[in-house]
Amino acid sequence: MDLYPLLYSLADGNFHSGETLGKNLGVTRTAIWKQANALKALGVELHSVTGKGYRLPEPMNLLSREQILATSQTDREALDKYFDLHLSIGSTNIEAMKKAQAGYSRYLVLAEHQSQGRGRRGRTWVSPLGKNLYFSLMWSFQNGVSALEGLSLLTALVVVRALQKAGFAGLGLKWPNDVLLNGNKLAGILLEINGDKTGPCQVVIGIGLNINMPQSAGAEIDQPYADLAASGGMINRNWIAAALIDGLHTELEKFVVSGFAPYRQEWESLDVYRDKEVQVQSGAGIIRGVVAGVDVGGALLLNTSSGIQAISGGEVFPSLRPV
Ligand code: BTN
Repeated sequence: MDLYPLLYSLADGNFHSGETLGKNLGVTRTAIWKQANALKALGVELHSVTGKGYRLPEPMNLLSREQILATSQTDREALDKYFDLHLSIGSTNIEAMKKAQAGYSRYLVLAEHQSQGRGRRGRTWVSPLGKNLYFSLMWSFQNGVSALEGLSLLTALVVVRALQKAGFAGLGLKWPNDVLLNGNKLAGILLEINGDKTGPCQVVIGIGLNINMPQSAGAEIDQPYADLAASGGMINRNWIAAALIDGLHTELEKFVVSGFAPYRQEWESLDVYRDKEVQVQSGAGIIRGVVAGVDVGGALLLNTSSGIQAISGGEVFPSLRPV
């Protein structure tokens, strides 16, 4: 059942009768009723009033494939062939990975809603419909996973740059790849790899960006979070999606040639934990020290009692997440 036409018809926030909707969409009133229930099942707050019809509580600025393509500076004809926008999907990362397995070398998957949004370390990524961005770009690399060092840090930097360009301030980074707004988590990044770990492989770069998190969905998040709506101003999700697409396409081409090194200084300048005392939970246990930056491969440099240690995987505490 394609629910997009109905949601588009309701996006203005006005009442629409079942009869008019049915006529416009070429289906029966019963079909509209069924679709309305399906939207409700996806978490859409849809009011139905006898004699008036259906209405969303407020207008909804839906993602539009056409608007994104029109706004993006990336080769439009090419992008058009490897870009899907879904109303609802399990996980955009899983879908993008399927495209890698189907033989595509690049693929972009966006969704308005994820029923099984995935976070790092097996966590869930809360993904209500029509509010945030759920974005996965699959990209092919030729030289194995060692050439991917720093890719997740670069992705977080691309997110910050796109948002700074849109006029947002108060953005920061937390190693390895969290984007913070005024100290709280605004966006998370999940990289997943397919293929030969020493040769050609495909990487799915998954980005979850909180734009207008409803309170009810926010209550499910187990750490202090931020969204862009709280900082005021006009937010055009299509524009932000296009800026992420452009930023990633431009920087991934450069990253393949030069790696993370050229981004290191800018990344460090945004690190909210720089020069702060932290604990890092990694495979080797808990390491304490003062954050001294990151190296050219994106490993965290920690000044410990036994000197500088480079840590390539783990989580920094004091975490924003209650322990
Ligand atoms: C994190 O835990 O910080 C990473 C969160 C990554 C979430 C994004 S949303 C789009 C993509 N699809 C997923 O299932 N996860 C990533």
